[in-house]
Amino acid sequence: MTTAPHQESSGDDVPTMKKHSSTCYIRQNNFEFCGYKLKIARILGADLGVSAYVWDSGIALCRYFEKEKINFTGRKVIELGAGTGIVGILAALLGGNVTITDKPNCLMQIRNNVYINIPPVCRNRLKVRPLVWGEDQFNFPTDYDFILGSDIVYRFDAYADLIDTLHQLCSEHTTIYLATEFRTDNQSMTFHDVLITEYFNCSVVDSSNNRAIIVYKISKIGTNPYESEAAIAPEL
Ligand SMILES: C[S@@+](CC[C@H](N)C(=O)[O-])C[C@H]1O[C@@H](n2cnc3c(N)ncnc32)[C@H](O)[C@@H]1O
Repeated sequence: MTTAPHQESSGDDVPTMKKHSSTCYIRQNNFEFCGYKLKIARILGADLGVSAYVWDSGIALCRYFEKEKINFTGRKVIELGAGTGIVGILAALLGGNVTITDKPNCLMQIRNNVYINIPPVCRNRLKVRPLVWGEDQFNFPTDYDFILGSDIVYRFDAYADLIDTLHQLCSEHTTIYLATEFRTDNQSMTFHDVLITEYFNCSVVDSSNNRAIIVYKISKIGTNPYESEAAIAPEL
């Protein structure tokens, strides 16, 4: 990963800066998806690296949920590599029972954003937990309806662990949505076109930024990719 996303570029993104401690600052960016105004705080100066940004893939996945009117009501959802937590927070606001995960050092930033954005009466539907790919996936259930991830396909050396994690968490009823930004230096295309296809069906459902960011819908091989879609269709 070579470049950071343009945090100040989107029209609905108004940053504010607050001092958090002698070494850390909180920078807040505002977004609006599906009628919800989100205030996403990023903790700068705390060695969070790529986790201290809202990546364009995260915005693309939220826009996809908005465009497709995805309803997570009553659904069991897990987000991997959440960073700020923006995607999982929106899924919870859209009705999901959501577990937001990332490496342990990112959880304080995510919990802060949950506190800011999720009304107290809904907080029992949202958990924040450590999940390092390839290490912690066995501590989680395997009956998720949805697995979400934005810009988590970005480091070639982590691809095998990420696939193991998806495989462990995924049942025949699970729909995975991954939004990936294609960069020349990390073989993310190989992940989607070759590596993941050994175990999963992977289809493109949306793209943005001139196809630099693609949203994939993924299911375990041997399962009907339309089955879970039917399950979320509104009652006629
Ligand atoms: C580029 S950031 C994307 C953050 C967020 N999903 C977004 O779109 O704004 C990648 C995220 O994946 C997480 N990550 C990287 N390697 C991981 C691993 N082995 N286990 C768990 N999370 C990992 C990082 O901590 C980081 O938060």
